[in-house]
Amino acid sequence: MKLLASMKVNPEGVLEIGGCSALDLVKQFGTPLYVMDEGQIRKNCQEYISAFRVNYPDFTVLYASKVFLAAAMCKLVAEEGLGIDVVSGGEIYTAKKAGFPMERAYFHGNNKLPEEINLALDSGVGSFVIDNLPEIELLNTLAKAKDVKAKVLLRVSPGIDAHTHSFIKTGLIDSKFGVAISNGQAMEAIKAILQKDSLEFRGIHCHIGSQIFDLDSYTETADVMVAFMAQLQADTGVEIKELNLGGGLGIYYSDGDEPKSFTSFVENMTKAVKDNLAKHGLAFPRLLIEPGRSMVGEAGCTLYTVGTVKEIPDIKKYISVDGGMTDNPRPALYDAKYEAALANRMTDAPEEVVSIAGKCCESGDMLIKDIKLPRAKAGDILVVSATGAYNYAMSSNYNRNIKPAVVFVDKGSSRLVVKRETYDDLIRNDVI
Ligand code: LLP
Repeated sequence: MKLLASMKVNPEGVLEIGGCSALDLVKQFGTPLYVMDEGQIRKNCQEYISAFRVNYPDFTVLYASKVFLAAAMCKLVAEEGLGIDVVSGGEIYTAKKAGFPMERAYFHGNNKLPEEINLALDSGVGSFVIDNLPEIELLNTLAKAKDVKAKVLLRVSPGIDAHTHSFIKTGLIDSKFGVAISNGQAMEAIKAILQKDSLEFRGIHCHIGSQIFDLDSYTETADVMVAFMAQLQADTGVEIKELNLGGGLGIYYSDGDEPKSFTSFVENMTKAVKDNLAKHGLAFPRLLIEPGRSMVGEAGCTLYTVGTVKEIPDIKKYISVDGGMTDNPRPALYDAKYEAALANRMTDAPEEVVSIAGKCCESGDMLIKDIKLPRAKAGDILVVSATGAYNYAMSSNYNRNIKPAVVFVDKGSSRLVVKRETYDDLIRNDVI
């Protein structure tokens, strides 16, 4: 397992995350346990902001909260001066309850429910990213009923084929998200928005996909988006105030992943935007991005306790842990690859190839296939790295397993930010 920025091995051969011994964390909080390095997340927020500061005059970095949301994370994001991207009533409710400055929130979604839109309007959500034609009428009607003018962006599909897994690719014309530029629907939608008294048109948004390593996809996106801005201005005289190019920067999960630095990502994107603005003679809009995975992915890991060790002679050795697809559905969903190690025996030599199984009643519940580890035994602590993104957020109670706790670590201290569920949580809504 590659040691990520938050990780270190102490002289006893034990893994430290954010300066905390994995064994101490396990003793205090139990397993499975999500551990997130708060210091690293703050550093990531600051790196994105500094990269923009030197490259572009007017910008906002939004945290894509779908990747990992909890009240403590809202507080952190607010303290670091970022905005937030929310996609559901639940995310809006969490951010509002956590005291997040909601004028910095952008509400996305391809099927925003009327009750979610009302909640957003009542919670003071700053901007709405309209996703489709019917939403224009719906949002206008609901905003009018509350006598407010909603600030809106339009999500467009730039038609970019980003090189990533098809399930997380979103910038293509045939997508459930956004309206296409190429077939004229985006222009039609903006003209419709401009007619509505309770909507204030601010700009355009796109998101081309996730876990992207190829920065050229963003250059191409900037070309298409700024050309569309120019076309819009020529057709309607309307100037775009905000240009949001979404999230998507890839992270390191396993051997072969070669993520680009935040700085090169921002430099590349801002250069492409600036070049295109100059080419078309346009003024600088506010530039927004919405990183999720790159903000928290590598800052998180999951600790498990090893249970059953089962060998099928000449075939395979299964190491089962006390979690699985319920706390990390990504291997089962996307065939995602992760790295792992024995956190209590980091300096022991890897001896055998094993597969890591979860505890769910499902053969597909495998966290890692074929990984070389020291000879593992019941009671060892297994760490899976880079689980900060889309793990807790996508966790489930399948088989009525309870969701793990989340702990923030930083410079040797730890604090609980999400409690482990209890069995009572599982039956809370059951009605006999
Ligand atoms: N903005 C929009 C509109 C998005 O849809 C997303 C992610 C982001 C920003 C953040 O993208 P990021 O920087 O995290 O790549 N569950 C999948 C990923 C789904 C991505 C959904 N949208 C996974 O576990 O890989």
